[in-house]
Amino acid sequence: MTSSGQLAPSGMPSNGPLPKSALDADAVRTAYQRWAGVYDAVFGGVSAFGRKRAVAAVNRLPGTAVLEVGVGTGLALPHYNGDKRITGIDLSRAMLDRARQRVQRNAMPHVADLLEMDAEETSFADDSFDIAVAMFVASVVPNPRRLLAELKRVVRPGGSILFVNHFLATGGIRLAVERGMARASHSLGWHPDFAIESLLPEVDLRRAVIESVPPFGLFTLVTLTNDGP
Ligand SMILES: C[S@@+](CC[C@H](N)C(=O)[O-])C[C@H]1O[C@@H](n2cnc3c(N)ncnc32)[C@H](O)[C@@H]1O
Repeated sequence: MTSSGQLAPSGMPSNGPLPKSALDADAVRTAYQRWAGVYDAVFGGVSAFGRKRAVAAVNRLPGTAVLEVGVGTGLALPHYNGDKRITGIDLSRAMLDRARQRVQRNAMPHVADLLEMDAEETSFADDSFDIAVAMFVASVVPNPRRLLAELKRVVRPGGSILFVNHFLATGGIRLAVERGMARASHSLGWHPDFAIESLLPEVDLRRAVIESVPPFGLFTLVTLTNDGP
C-alpha cells in the first residue's frame, strides 16, 4: 500500500485500471465493523436478486465443494442446495459473527465452515474447491487481481469462479454519479467506480460469460471456467 492509499501494483498478475481510492484490509474491517449491524436492512434488499441469481448458478454447476468469498452476514447461505458444502470466509469478524448467528438460528447442515480469512491470501491447498463465488466483494477487496489469482489457485482446473458485482457504467448519468460517489469509498466500504477491467485481464474478459442482473442492470454476473493462472 502506498502512502496515498493507492494499492501498490507489485504482485499483480497484470495491472488493470485501479479504482481511485482503494481500500486496505484495515479500512475494510473498520467499514464492516460499522455496517455489520445494519447491513441486511440497508443492502440486503437491493442486492437480493443478484445474490439469488449467483447462488442459482452455483447450484446448477457440477461439484459440491464451494468457497464463498466475503460471505458477510451470510445472506446467501440459505439459498444453496443441500448437496453443496459451503466454506465461507470473510475479513470482518463483525460480519462473520452475524453469519454464524444466522447458521445457528436456521439449521444449515450444508455450511461446513465460516472462517476469518483474507480472500487474497487463503490457507487452502491448491485445487481445494469445485466452485468459488464472490458476491459484492470484488469492488471491496484491496487488490481484485490478487483475489482472482487466489481463486484460480484454490479452485480445481475446470471448476468455476463466479462474481456478482456492480461495475462502473460506461457512460451517461450513471457514470457521472458513480464517479462522484467514489469519493465516499472509504465510508461506503466499496468502490462505486470499480471497472470490470480492474478485476479481469483482457484474456479472461474475452472468455467469461457476462450477464446483466436486475434491478435495472445495476449488477453483473460473471462466470469463468478455471483454466489456471
Ligand atoms: C458488500 S459485503 C458482501 C457480503 C456478502 N457477500 C453479501 O452478498 O451480502 C463485502 C464483504 O467482503 C468482505 N471482504 C472484503 N475484503 C475481503 C478480503 N480480502 N477477504 C475476505 N473478505 C473480504 C467484507 O468484510 C464484507 O463482509
